[in-house]
Amino acid sequence: MKNILAAVVLLMFGHVPAFAQNGNAQAGKALWDGPTTQCRNCHGVNGEGAFGPDLAGRKLSLTHFIHAVRKPWGIMPAYETSQLTDAEMGDMVAYFDSLPAVAQPGKWRFEVPAGAARGQVVALNTGCAQCHGPILNGPRANMGAIDGSFEDFKNEVYSHTTTHPKHRARLGEPMPPKLRMGNFSSTRMWESQLREIYDWAKNDLGFRVMITGRLRKGEPAKDGIAYRLDIENLGLKDKSVAAGDVTVSLIVPAGVTVVGASGAGYQGVQADAQAKANVAVWKLERIAPRDHITFNITLSKPGTAADNLRGTVRWTTPSVKTGPVDQANIAPAPL
Ligand code: HEC
Ligand code: HEC
Repeated sequence: MKNILAAVVLLMFGHVPAFAQNGNAQAGKALWDGPTTQCRNCHGVNGEGAFGPDLAGRKLSLTHFIHAVRKPWGIMPAYETSQLTDAEMGDMVAYFDSLPAVAQPGKWRFEVPAGAARGQVVALNTGCAQCHGPILNGPRANMGAIDGSFEDFKNEVYSHTTTHPKHRARLGEPMPPKLRMGNFSSTRMWESQLREIYDWAKNDLGFRVMITGRLRKGEPAKDGIAYRLDIENLGLKDKSVAAGDVTVSLIVPAGVTVVGASGAGYQGVQADAQAKANVAVWKLERIAPRDHITFNITLSKPGTAADNLRGTVRWTTPSVKTGPVDQANIAPAPL
């Protein structure tokens, strides 16, 4: 009787959450692979380990897992409930329990290149560049758009979950459904290290122009399907600069023809070596901060899941100090 009572009390008030034993491995995999988390950049695509330790088949308890994510011991940033719930971690634990352990942890997503500048070494060795790529394209564009100070940069790192929404609102940009970067601790990720990264990103590589390209869903038109393409320079007028000598290229899927196109600077369809495909091209002298340009194109057939409409925007000024041409991707059209 005592035992039954104890069990009932544990069920009702116990600290063992119901999802501890029955997390859903499939849901955990979907979360790990999906767009709302980026843990995989540090822990490996399948949790095999990379910059961070391997998780697959380690049989870590849920308590251990939650502790590691909410109060990381080392350089890993801390994640809040708004980013990842305890129940979702239960699903991740079930997913990793379903995988075999690895004999050797995997390689880093990005290794430190030989002869790397000091700022780049720090960005790779502290994890920042494991997500943002070896030359921090995203942060350099976002900081460029607001001419971000070191203070702005620091706040994005130490209090990301409160600062990022403010910066986003300043640019008039919608928030992602969940923030994928956690809050770094200033006792692990030192301010002096951040200073080295910031100075390298701003002065050695240079801040970027923040260009976005978005395709609307195709609409049935007279001779095919019509797409609208919006290109914007999101930079603030008094803080940012224009992109100069701009080429907008939209990949024309194989077997599809361009029925008609409009918008300033349309050049027609050309073969593109970088895209290894035919592209519809527009050329513009400049896109100034806050400029919003719209192009229209009608194709003979809609894009498909395998071969969807997407493209790039390239500009030659301001030039990237590490390479010839800067570019931004045009996100695929919603199907
Ligand atoms: C910047 C790279 C980085 C990111 C991003 C990251 N981790 Fe980690 N993680 C680490 C490192 C490094 C450790 C080792 C301990 C530490 O630094 O706190 C770790 C430790 C862990 C541990 C404990 C492993 C053990 O052996 O005890 C778990 C669990 C974990 N991370 C889960 C996650 C989850 C879930 C996410 C995404 C929400 C995530 N991590 C994002 C780098 C990262
Ligand atoms: C888990 C991957 C990840 C890691 C590790 C990471 N970031 Fe981020 N960071 C992001 C993402 C994704 C965003 C966009 C907002 C979001 O989803 O959280 C972002 C946003 C930012 C921003 C705001 C501008 C922008 O690009 O949106 C800055 C600045 C930034 N990160 C710098 C850093 C620095 C410096 C470090 C290392 C201390 C770092 N990040 C580590 C993924 C990461």
